[in-house]
Amino acid sequence: MAKKDIDWGNLGFGYIKTEKRYVSDFKGGSWDEGRITEDDTINLSECACVFQYAQTIFEGLKAYTTQDGRTVTFRPDLNAERMMESAERLEMPPFPKERFLDAVRQVIKANVDYVPPYGSGATLYIRPFMFGSNPVIGVKPAEEYQFRIFTTPVGPYFKGGAKPITVRISDFDRAAPKGTGHIKAGLNYAMSLHAIVDAHNQGFAENIYLDPGTRTKIEETGGANIIFIDGDGNVVTPLSDSILPSITRRSLMIVAEKYLGLKVTQREVTLKEVEEGAFKECGLCGTAAVISPVGCINDHGKEIKFSSGMDEMGPTLKLLYDTLTGIQMGRIEAPEGWIFEIA
Ligand code: PLP
Ligand code: COI
Repeated sequence: MAKKDIDWGNLGFGYIKTEKRYVSDFKGGSWDEGRITEDDTINLSECACVFQYAQTIFEGLKAYTTQDGRTVTFRPDLNAERMMESAERLEMPPFPKERFLDAVRQVIKANVDYVPPYGSGATLYIRPFMFGSNPVIGVKPAEEYQFRIFTTPVGPYFKGGAKPITVRISDFDRAAPKGTGHIKAGLNYAMSLHAIVDAHNQGFAENIYLDPGTRTKIEETGGANIIFIDGDGNVVTPLSDSILPSITRRSLMIVAEKYLGLKVTQREVTLKEVEEGAFKECGLCGTAAVISPVGCINDHGKEIKFSSGMDEMGPTLKLLYDTLTGIQMGRIEAPEGWIFEIA
């Protein structure tokens, strides 16, 4: 077994087909035993529920090579639980947690040559997803489903890696009050596609969505939660029931408190206080984004600049980044149960 000949250091966040994927089908009220397959295609009825009514959910996690050469993932139990919550909200049969963890292990083992080497800056992105597969024309959930996991080696989500980005306040919403913003449903991302194309056309890296009820509070971006560092160097992160409960953000809150001795507050954050300069650093956090520093937020032409600037990540975010990635890559001892060994 040898690592694939890939230019790991120059990977972006794109799809590269690997050899194996995991598939399990739900039929007649139960999941089959699942299998690893080389077939990357899916053959479905034109009337499958996923095509007509977007009944699909997904997850995202990464496999890392540690400093001492192990292959690990980070808190996959939380992805399993979140996917079960997403399934329940969309009336899909949850894929059991132990099955999810076993499938993650199987698919990483089957693609271990694609797990980027330690220190390369790349990781293996793991994409579990599930969709309604039988024909449905009246609006109702499917009766048959497929759960699948593919893997793809990735580099940084934003071009330039750790270079601060400029994001804008979006006029569009990605979620509705009491809607599906808190789960990882494909429909939330469909909602964000026009907004992201428009943001990119205007030269912005991402959209910050405001709370859909009052449009006065900061929620999250299309693919990441937001963390702020206040004037005292402490962590503040928005509280809302329409943002996705990011596993990276929840982990960073523990890292900040337990490893770095910072105060962490999760509360409503108004756009007004951000404009008034309440925060000196801002970052986007998620599996794909890791921590991506924000240097500037553009609110309809008005620029909110963070004192950390546009050249590098601010000092507190950098500490958080180094500690989190140190835990993920085995350089720093992890809290109990955070690292899931594959090989
Ligand atoms: N928010 C949204 C909308 C996302 O798509 C993601 C990505 O998974 C996140 C936040 C970050 O979540 P996590 O840290 O669990 O990857
Ligand atoms: C992830 O971070 O895993 C996500 O799903 C975000 C997506 C925008 C790539």
